[in-house]
Amino acid sequence: MCGIVGYIGKKQAAPIILDGLSKLEYRGYDSAGMAIYDGEKINITKSVGRLKVLENLTRGGETMPGFCGIGHTRWATHGVPNDTNAHPHFNADETITVVHNGIIENYLQLRQMLADKGYRFVSDTDTEVLAHLLDYYYKGNPLEAVTKVLHRVEGSYALGILFADCPDQIFATRKDSPLIVGQSDEGCFIASDVPAILKYTRKVYYVDNQEVVRLRADHMHFYTVDEEELRKDPVTIEWDTDAAEKAGYEHFMLKEMYEQPKTVTDTLMPRIKDDDIVIEELHMTDEELAALKKIHIVACGSAYHAGVTGKYVIEGLARIPVEVDLASEFRYRDPILEEGSMVVVISQSGETADTLAALRESKARGFKVLGIVNVVGSSIAREADNVMYTWAGPEIAVATTKAYSAQLIALYLLAMKIGKVRGKIDPEAFSAMLGDLKCLPDQIEMLLNNKLKIQKFANRYVGAKDVFFIGRGIDYAISLEGSLKLKEISYIHSEAYAAGELKHGTISLIEEGTLVAAVSTQPELYAKTISNMVEVKARGAFVLAVTCEENKAIEKAADYVIYIPETNPYFANSLAIIPLQLFGYYVAVGKGCDVDKPRNLAKSVTVE
Ligand code: AGP
Repeated sequence: MCGIVGYIGKKQAAPIILDGLSKLEYRGYDSAGMAIYDGEKINITKSVGRLKVLENLTRGGETMPGFCGIGHTRWATHGVPNDTNAHPHFNADETITVVHNGIIENYLQLRQMLADKGYRFVSDTDTEVLAHLLDYYYKGNPLEAVTKVLHRVEGSYALGILFADCPDQIFATRKDSPLIVGQSDEGCFIASDVPAILKYTRKVYYVDNQEVVRLRADHMHFYTVDEEELRKDPVTIEWDTDAAEKAGYEHFMLKEMYEQPKTVTDTLMPRIKDDDIVIEELHMTDEELAALKKIHIVACGSAYHAGVTGKYVIEGLARIPVEVDLASEFRYRDPILEEGSMVVVISQSGETADTLAALRESKARGFKVLGIVNVVGSSIAREADNVMYTWAGPEIAVATTKAYSAQLIALYLLAMKIGKVRGKIDPEAFSAMLGDLKCLPDQIEMLLNNKLKIQKFANRYVGAKDVFFIGRGIDYAISLEGSLKLKEISYIHSEAYAAGELKHGTISLIEEGTLVAAVSTQPELYAKTISNMVEVKARGAFVLAVTCEENKAIEKAADYVIYIPETNPYFANSLAIIPLQLFGYYVAVGKGCDVDKPRNLAKSVTVE
């Protein structure tokens, strides 16, 4: 996510803003900038790269004197990382400037409306639309201009805004992206998160959706989106800085698990318009999509596991063949790519060497490559022919959770889109599936709130030596990811197995008390999986079942059952993976492992 810091008060603003932004670096970013009012005009300095670049450009803020300013670290969503796309953005005469965290979903329509009125755009960002829209509505009353903009924009935002005409004020507002304001004897602050201003004050106010804050050097006022003044009570922060960076969570991994409802929403909602799926970034007509004869999905690790789910979902919904490859295998097996095929590479970091090599191999053979990527402007994003971003924001924990969940959403959307244009999904089923997709964030939230039950169960397996995950079809794909989550952070050996395959050898490893997690979310396979559970129980296994609420029959074969809410079976991975993520997490915590930075692992494997 982007980081926002603003200050107005008795002290020089730039050093305070730079210090605050440094406390938000953990959020991940690719550029940084500041706008400071110097007594006559707003000065803006911004650049791609680390915060150090901005510090050097401004000599620690010395070249930008002034007592009022806003600053930003950008995590790119629209527009690659470069100086022009960095924030702050501004209107033509630089009398209004804005920093933004979030996604303006209707920015294209607004950009067109403003262009038709003569506004000229210099960046590729959604944020620049806000600067010109504020200009469009500003007639001398900044609060009125801000609230009018809020009535026009859709999507998520946290904003810091400066008006050169009103240099003794900063305006701030938010919707769905975090923003706090704070006050000390030396001034008032805005920030995306507590760590940025904790050094200056522990007295903060949490801004609610569509509230507008007018900050002056020694006081602030709160308003509704209809300009009615509000009273808000401050909160005193008890956290230390380190805890605050994790927003109170013990680990980034847990924080990122809890961000999954938002990640799913941010990846899903911009691509659902008028009850249809619109994936503009495919740059393919419906006819071109319908003409696809085969898809090759290539990735590594958890991204590969998402791809295995993608195979089942795309083949099930679109009825075209899908091959899934580990990128490290694909690049050396001289793959047979047939006419009419598309290659889809999946990568959170967009820098994984094997996946990048697979992309280059595919392009060298003349095949179009779609990248499903989280890091905007990453190598894979830049080299793919088209990119479908997963808007999960920066993922700090080495073990992926929210990015994996976003990858699943991207694959569901792709499968439904192709299925629809090929006439394989009838309108009622399509509409019902859209409804199921929209329910996923709340259902994930509900499963996450089940964490204490999972933690209790996990504590029983802190000493485990071998854990098996079994499932059939999509449940096998879920098992792959559940097993990896446990392995990579708790260092306990684990295997995922196609449930029907266990009896062909591996079942010999099952001993008294061996934990077998059976995933069963596919109704047509419920009975088969129960048979496999009975097989392992007969050899002494303790069987944990993860299944749908309707599947009560499983209780006769399971020792412990975790139920997930009803959803379309094609989307069940998004729900079943939540208890498995929590299980791996709590076993690792119970073992005292370094959950966020497991031994031997890197967040992005940029070497072969
Ligand atoms: C996931 O928890 C692992 N950290 C790892 O398997 C990861 O998914 C894999 O290295 C691929 O990374 P990428 O998505 O950045 O390409």
